[in-house]
Order: sequence, then C-alpha cells, then structure tokens
Amino acid sequence: MVTINENYLKLKAGYLFPEIARRVRVFTESNPDAPIIKLGIGDVTEPLPEACRTAMIKAVEDMGDRATFKGYGPEQGYAWLREKIASQDFQARGCEIDASEIFVSDGGKCDTGNILDIFGKGNTIAVTDPVYPVYVDTNVMAGHTGPVNDKGEYEGLFYLPITAENNFTAKIPDRPVDLIYLCFPNNPTGATASKADLKAWVDYARANGSVILFDAAYEAFITDPELPHSIYEIEGARECAIEFRSFSKNAGFTGTRCAYTVVPKSLKVTASDGAEVTLHQLWNRRQSTKFNGVSYLVQRGAEAVYSPEGQSQVQGLIKFYLENAQIIRQKLSDAGLTVYGGVHAPYIWVKTPQGLSSWDFFDKLLNLCYVVGTPGSGFGAAGEGYFRISAFNSRENVEEAMSRITDNFKV
Ligand code: MLT
Repeated sequence: MVTINENYLKLKAGYLFPEIARRVRVFTESNPDAPIIKLGIGDVTEPLPEACRTAMIKAVEDMGDRATFKGYGPEQGYAWLREKIASQDFQARGCEIDASEIFVSDGGKCDTGNILDIFGKGNTIAVTDPVYPVYVDTNVMAGHTGPVNDKGEYEGLFYLPITAENNFTAKIPDRPVDLIYLCFPNNPTGATASKADLKAWVDYARANGSVILFDAAYEAFITDPELPHSIYEIEGARECAIEFRSFSKNAGFTGTRCAYTVVPKSLKVTASDGAEVTLHQLWNRRQSTKFNGVSYLVQRGAEAVYSPEGQSQVQGLIKFYLENAQIIRQKLSDAGLTVYGGVHAPYIWVKTPQGLSSWDFFDKLLNLCYVVGTPGSGFGAAGEGYFRISAFNSRENVEEAMSRITDNFKV
C-alpha cells in the first residue's frame, strides 16, 4: 500500500497566498465588475529593466548559433554571473564571499525550503512570529514539528515574537536553538535590523553552534547607509550563516525566476561520527543531484543587473516602489491608522482599525474597497490584529486604493 508524507496533513488549510487568491476568486465570481486592486502578495508590476531584456534577447540569439549554443549549464550557475554577484553584492561591501560560495537558483522561496534537505531531524528551529510562512510550512512538511494548535503555532517550533513593543526585532533566545530563520528587511513587518542586532545573532549562533538562515530578499530597499545589506557584514557570520538573495524584488524577476544562496566554505558542522562537514559540500551535492541550474537566458538577464545601466534601472524600480510605500504610509497615518515598516522595505504593516481581526479586516477591505491585502495572522499568531499592504503596484492603483481605504476607514 502506498503511504504518503503525513506531515502534509498537519499543515493549516492552504498556503497563505493561494488561500487569499481563492477568496478573491469567490468574491469576483459574485462581483465580476468590482475593480479590484491587489496589494496582497509581494508581486512586482513594473516591466523588467531594459538592460535585462536586451541581455536576454541577445542570449536567445546565442542559442540559435551552434558556436554559442548552450546545453546544460553548471548546476551552481555560470561563473560569469557568480563572479559579478560575489564582487558587487559582497566584496564591494567588505564581505569576504567568493564566487564559488554562490549557488544560483530559480528562487529564494525554493532555496529556503530546499535547504532543509541538508539538515537532520531533531534540530530545534526558531522562527520569528510573524514570519514568512514558507519557513514554517517547509519544516512541517519535513516532519520537524508536531501538530498545530488553535493559535496556529506548531508544536516543536520555537517562536520569537516580533511586535511593535520590541521594535519588530526578535529577542535573542534564552536557550540554545539549532536553526534560526531571520529575514531583514523583514517580510512581513517591513522592519530592519541594525549591525548591532545582527551581531547579537551572530555571536549567539557562534556561542551555541547554531546556523542562521538569513533571508535578504529585500536588501535592495535599504536606503540608510548604516544598515547592513548582508549578514556577512558582521564578523564571524561566515562561520554560522547561510544567506538567501533574490532578483525578484529588486529587478522584477518574480516571473523570470532567478535567485541565489550563499553557503560559505567556512561554515562547518559536526556529523554524528564526529567528522567535520562543510554545509557547502552538502548543498553542492544536493544541488548537483536535484537541480539542473537556471536557464542560460535568465542568467544572462540577471548578469545585466550588474551592468551600469542595469544598476541604474534597478535603482529606478526600487525608488518607484519605495515612493509607493511612502504614499501608503502617509495616507494611512493621515487617516489615523497606525503603520510600521515601508521605509526600507516594500511592505507596510498596519494595525487593523476598530479592533478588527486580520481576516475580518481583509474581508471588509475586499467588500467595501475592492482592495486585497494580506492578513497579519496568516504570518503567525503574533500577526493577529495586523495587516500587510504591499507597495508593489502602479502609482495609479496605489493612490486609488489609498483613497478607497481612507474613505472607509477614517479613525
Ligand atoms: C510575499 O508576498 O510575502 C512574497 O511575495 C512571497 C514570496 O516572495 O514568495
């Protein structure tokens, strides 16, 4: 008899974003003419930078000529892309990261889930609450948790509440944990971490033999020069952290698909027989077995992000979305709502008005304003009473959505 991975049965209903899409579909079926504006999932709306498109068109031409045609590429990504990443994203910021430590992939979401392949069972896993749900759900799927309780917390996970009271920076645990997921600038709260915050985590991880899984998918939105873009800006992080990056939110690659993961060769763990093993060797083995690399065309598109034109076009996109974020912050605060984030991040974390629950506010916003956002409780129990609004949309839609919300929700 076939058996299944019963851990999947422990998962709460649907994954958050498909569940939102389902509710919007149901609403649209009975309100087909409602002019819905989506500020829910953090999906970009603006066209790909011209530099990336030009590079991809050229790459298509390469594929049409036997002399430049490419078959399977390296599973880890082409050296010309990895070298640019290492030099411009890391070495230029003083981080000692070598091209051979970069693994190009098709998404940060996939990598943050797949990374669990190289860790054993029995690790204590710490996640912030609220949190990007992928970290939690992939641990549930891998059998690292028990069942979920009424609050939506899984037995066996160590939750680190991030709230307005602690400035959305998690407190260092008072006990040893093995794997720690951190995401800064934070999804969903839009909060940032200072160098001192990250140093405290790196020091803790080194003292306890923990590994930090650092998701920096939103680093491009940082405009304060004092804030770290990478955990490797902190001394000692090469010995305790893996970092995930993405081209989705900076260069608009959500539909094009390209990201990368950094696994330093100095990040070592001890196997049960006492042997020292590098996580780099395990991840390399995993990727070369289960992954065939990102398409040549897409990697050429990603490479163009590092050209002078690409850099300035990406800056233009970031500026545009940050202006949207500023408009959202301003309009909602003027209407008397309490807002957080949205300064160095494309997400605005809003306290729901009138004491509404996150999902009640979601339903009201959809029914009264035809605006879709993301209920804070979908990111964890501590997100209840909050709501996430994404700045990824056209200016016109953001302005229209804000005027509809403020007309209905003046506090
Ligand atoms: C989000 O809305 O949280 C993100 O778009 C999800 C993702 O990047 O996978």
